[in-house]
Amino acid sequence: MDSQGTLDGVDSADPGAVFADGGQPAWYRDAVVYSLDVKTFQDSDGDGWGDFQGLIDRLDYLEEIGVDCLWVRPFYPSPLRDNGYDVADYRGVDDRMGSMDDFDRLVDEMDDRGMRLITDLVLNHTSVDHEWFQRAREDPDSKYHDYYLWTSHIDDAFHTENIFPEFEDGVWSYDEVAEKHYFHQFYNHQPDLNVANPEVQEELFDIIQFWLERGVDGFRIDAAHPMVLPKGHNAHRMDDPQWLFREMKRRAREVKDDAVLLAEADDEPDHLDFYFAGGDGFDALFNFVGNSHVTYGVGVEDTWPLHRMFEQIPDGDPDGHVWWANFLRNHDEWNLLKLPHEALEHAREEFREGHGDGRDSWIFGRGHRLRLADLYDGDHDRIAMAHSLLLALPGTPILFSGDEIGMHADLDLPERQAVRTPMRWDGSEPNAGFSSADADELVIPVDGTGWPGVFQADVASQRGDADSLFARVSRAVEARKRAPEVSRGDFAVVDTDPKEVWAHRFDHDGEVLLTVHNFADDHREAVVGFDVDPDDAECVLGDAEFTVADGGVSVSMDGCDYLWLRGEKR
Ligand code: NOJ
Repeated sequence: MDSQGTLDGVDSADPGAVFADGGQPAWYRDAVVYSLDVKTFQDSDGDGWGDFQGLIDRLDYLEEIGVDCLWVRPFYPSPLRDNGYDVADYRGVDDRMGSMDDFDRLVDEMDDRGMRLITDLVLNHTSVDHEWFQRAREDPDSKYHDYYLWTSHIDDAFHTENIFPEFEDGVWSYDEVAEKHYFHQFYNHQPDLNVANPEVQEELFDIIQFWLERGVDGFRIDAAHPMVLPKGHNAHRMDDPQWLFREMKRRAREVKDDAVLLAEADDEPDHLDFYFAGGDGFDALFNFVGNSHVTYGVGVEDTWPLHRMFEQIPDGDPDGHVWWANFLRNHDEWNLLKLPHEALEHAREEFREGHGDGRDSWIFGRGHRLRLADLYDGDHDRIAMAHSLLLALPGTPILFSGDEIGMHADLDLPERQAVRTPMRWDGSEPNAGFSSADADELVIPVDGTGWPGVFQADVASQRGDADSLFARVSRAVEARKRAPEVSRGDFAVVDTDPKEVWAHRFDHDGEVLLTVHNFADDHREAVVGFDVDPDDAECVLGDAEFTVADGGVSVSMDGCDYLWLRGEKR
């Protein structure tokens, strides 16, 4: 490798190339990622907990969708007060999900299938149960004390809003053993690590190396933004926070030269470029601006939010360092803070479900604990179209487990558990095929269990049905795999009427890939510029009718239709 991290002689236009032009590993730019939680995916031994063996047993299913990379949420030993984002041991596997041997077998099985594995790393905070925190509170002279942030003068300390304002009054909690307050931006059981402390930094680099040596291909770095916010009594900031990101990547690449770091950095749009550190920092950022705008735009049948999203975010360039991990929904609340105020207010009421009895979907003053199927009223046409759009956006698409079959949220469950219920494999089986345990032993209740007649999606009724949501999402994934233009081409929004129709294109290697999506519920006609030879146009995805003429294509679309067309540029 040369000093830019590129391989001499590798042609980045080649889909098999190791590095894209920007010097970043190409594999994740071409990947379609599926995010899942091991403990709610498939239970193999009947104890009510999903486990690694269960996930291995379901790899065929994931291959059938066509995804080639898994992002697996935290599976480390944890008291699970925040679904595993409260880590008690960074180098282990929670034994309710299996053993380290099981984890190793997953890595081998995925390797055999050419699938990549990204795991979640929570480096901003630990659980209070972590040994570091226990030693820190017991002994102020131990090095672990300085792994965390304390104050003995709470009135003079820096105060800021907690990230979970509904549950926490602030960012300090009193520890009776240490007889001091400790700093936490999330729940009080998640003390922030003092990431400015070089000894803590070494620990974090070691953890990264540990998992790469076990075979993972990269990490989702949880809470990358809070990591570098002002912290502790004096609102301390690292002198050079980008150094931390650069060093994390450098250490990772020492072990695996195409390891990737994907950051959860939900920062303001004009500060997002910072996290890439000019190409030496994170390889991709979750596109939170895109998530609120795209999911909202599709939901309200209007394309202005997409225009706004592209105006706000730095351009993702196949030859550059800016790269987005796009998603429609994730395992948290659907966070709307990046929408303009009026749209946020509208989305809060328009999509709200439940109301009263603790069944309100609005949470943390910023979002809905709902799934895509709830936001789109169970309309599979709309969910399929949203997935086609997701897969056509510049960046790496991330599917959220269960959305490919249209699973709903269960607002009877507390907090964000509503969107984290176990995968519904077969509604005719106990616990929808997730587990053979008694329903009251399940890690999280299966949604719809005990509610006969209540519609709940499952895999069994959709697999094999060419019109099902599952089949349509799988076809869109397959189209993406046949369309290297999306990750390698030059992106441009294409002007079109009416406002419910969105069109964009990629130019790559003399070809044009044009994608058109109808956000409306009913029929729309659109004429879209398309400078290809009319005889040469090939339909890559979708079943809308189209006629290619000189310089343009007329598309006749039913509600929620979509179309991907390719042709040689004139
Ligand atoms: C982001 C995770 O997605 C969320 O589930 C968690 O609560 C916070 N980070 C804190 O780790």
